[in-house]
Amino acid sequence: DPEKEDVVRAAVREFPDFPTPGVLFRDITPVLKDPAVFRTVIDLFEVHVRANYTKVDLIAGLDSRGFLFGPALAQRINVGFIMIRKKGKLPGLTESVSYSLEYGKAELEIQRDAVDPGQKVILIDDLLATGGTMSAACELLTRRGAEILDCLVLIELLSLRGADKLKPHRTHSLLAYD
Ligand code: PRP
Ligand code: HPA
Repeated sequence: DPEKEDVVRAAVREFPDFPTPGVLFRDITPVLKDPAVFRTVIDLFEVHVRANYTKVDLIAGLDSRGFLFGPALAQRINVGFIMIRKKGKLPGLTESVSYSLEYGKAELEIQRDAVDPGQKVILIDDLLATGGTMSAACELLTRRGAEILDCLVLIELLSLRGADKLKPHRTHSLLAYD
């Protein structure tokens, strides 16, 4: 829906040289601040999921901005939400994986009982840059035996080729930037 896409695109701000020189930071703050825009984002994700998947077991959100969109989408399609977190935040038995970032390095972690083998999972985050974060999350879920249906993001930075890194996993972005 190009009109809904325009509504969302108009609410994304750009900040040059944040958090480090050379990075053009896409800021989603205004998307969240306007309830009509936020609802439009969830509408667009919902339409994509309903059009492509008849059975979804869980939405998995990536720490931290995937947590802003994942629970709202999960409620819309009436499935549960699980957290993939930065290391050291989750209690109990966990599994972790390290990854590199557009501007740094980090580790992601999941609770071992978050997902059952064979469950169909859709991942969600605010933004796909190099794909390092999303591919680490896919690695964790794959290790736990999940079936990854799709990786959803609000924003995809095409020049960083994150979708290529994620192959053969599917990705879907609401907005793409060069
Ligand atoms: C940002 C963004 C994605 C990731 C994308 O999160 O929200 O999760 O980077 O980059 P990549 O595709 O190159 O991996 P960040 O690590 O800055 O953490 P935050 O959500 O806690 O701010
Ligand atoms: N904006 C927001 N988050 C990000 C970006 C960006 O340009 N790159 C990596 N994470």
